[in-house]
Amino acid sequence: MKAIKRTKISELLKSTAYGAEVNVRGWVRTRRSSKQVAFVALNDGSTINNVQIVIDVEKFDEELVKLFTTGACLSVNGTLVESIGGGQSVEIQATDIEVLGECDNTYPLQKKGQTMEYMRTVAHLRPRTNTFGAVFRIRHNMAYAIHKFFHDKGFYYFHTPIITASDCEGAGQMFQVTTMNLYDLKKDDEGSIKYDNDFFGKQASLTVSGQLEGELAATALGAIYTFGPTFRAENSNTPRHLAEFWMIEPEVAFNDITDNMDLAEEFIKYCVQWALDHCMEDITFLNNMIDKGLIERLRSIVDTEFVRLAYTDGIKILEEAVANGHKFEFPVYWGVDLASEHERYLVESHFKRPVILTDYPKEIKAFYMKQNEDGKTVRAMDVLFPKIGEIIGGSEREADYGKLLARIEELGIPMKDMWWYLDTRRYGSCPHSGFGLGFERLLLFVTGMANIRDVIPFPRTPNNAEF
Ligand code: 4AD
Ligand code: MG
Repeated sequence: MKAIKRTKISELLKSTAYGAEVNVRGWVRTRRSSKQVAFVALNDGSTINNVQIVIDVEKFDEELVKLFTTGACLSVNGTLVESIGGGQSVEIQATDIEVLGECDNTYPLQKKGQTMEYMRTVAHLRPRTNTFGAVFRIRHNMAYAIHKFFHDKGFYYFHTPIITASDCEGAGQMFQVTTMNLYDLKKDDEGSIKYDNDFFGKQASLTVSGQLEGELAATALGAIYTFGPTFRAENSNTPRHLAEFWMIEPEVAFNDITDNMDLAEEFIKYCVQWALDHCMEDITFLNNMIDKGLIERLRSIVDTEFVRLAYTDGIKILEEAVANGHKFEFPVYWGVDLASEHERYLVESHFKRPVILTDYPKEIKAFYMKQNEDGKTVRAMDVLFPKIGEIIGGSEREADYGKLLARIEELGIPMKDMWWYLDTRRYGSCPHSGFGLGFERLLLFVTGMANIRDVIPFPRTPNNAEF
């Protein structure tokens, strides 16, 4: 076959160089044939759109044409021609076709309209479908937008460790990392496991958050963000929880809680606007196939001011709803950790726009949050979104050495793990704030997908680590 430089389908579909000799490569999505012509829809992942290959059957070996099956990988030489049929502007009149990879009828993606549950069982192949191709292109674009947002604002991308000895959120939901022989565990006289001879000489785990190290960086570089995988061994089988998810955590010296809320709101709107500006083909597909309200919801977010409300006032609204006959599955009272149904009631039913809830009871929040004068609440902020519930969690940090130390002791957090963190408050302490955005929760919102397992290529959840 004549060597012609390959053109990506995304480029080709924009071309008007009719008559040009081109080469495209990709996977067969569908094929239709009549006696004289075969039409093959080819996709190479560069766009959701396929290019149509028109094959004059008489000019090709009959046995070769039989190999142009759904899923097969083809290299096609041909002439770019203006398309007469509706839909696309150009198609390729094939002159030469090579089958790079055959595909027989055991191919799991032959049937259209499979369930999302089924697609998870073929997660190694699902990026070849329209829906998952769209989702993963959007995922890439969102990652790029996030780096661009912070870089343009003068934040530094700071790499925090994946393996750690401290539990940032203090929720005890960490996966242990060990090289010890689990069949022959050494224990001391009290029956406790001895970690002295383990790889790190102490108990180590996968991180639940890069925040603590992020604070070290912010109190040196001024403004930083992390963007990496985080791990939680919580046994939550919900459409919004993963055991391995990606988190973005900005941390800024001299920011108070209001600056923190401003940053969070600007950041999320920037990401959504970026998706509308750069991913419209994929979003339009998802709007048509997955979630009819998607585009409207995305547009409404960038145009509306988020509500800012204290937790205590949020509870009053929820209690009123209960008094007026609204049924929640879980009880509502001051001090309760809000369930997703409560968060969504505030956002979707009461205010009908995103809500930033602040000043939560200290008992339900992490040790590092700045304590309010009332002695009961801390300067926490959760950003609550329609359909998602909590999308961001953050706070102003306790900058006072004495108060932080007292809280650490009160909660019984082992001090030997915390000395380096306390040093930020001991040496040149400063007010500072930050938050964490769950990357997959953002993607749920931007793609309209219903389950968090479908916005990450290979989801890790309880009882599932396939692929
Ligand atoms: O609210 P979280 O636990 O906050 C922190 O980890 C802080 N250290 C962040 C900070 O202030 N720097 O988690 C932050 C966000 C949540 O709002 C949610 O979007 C996401 O991370 N998240 C999860 N996403 C998927 N699966 C899970 N199991 C998640 N747990 C939290
Ligand atoms: Mg949270």
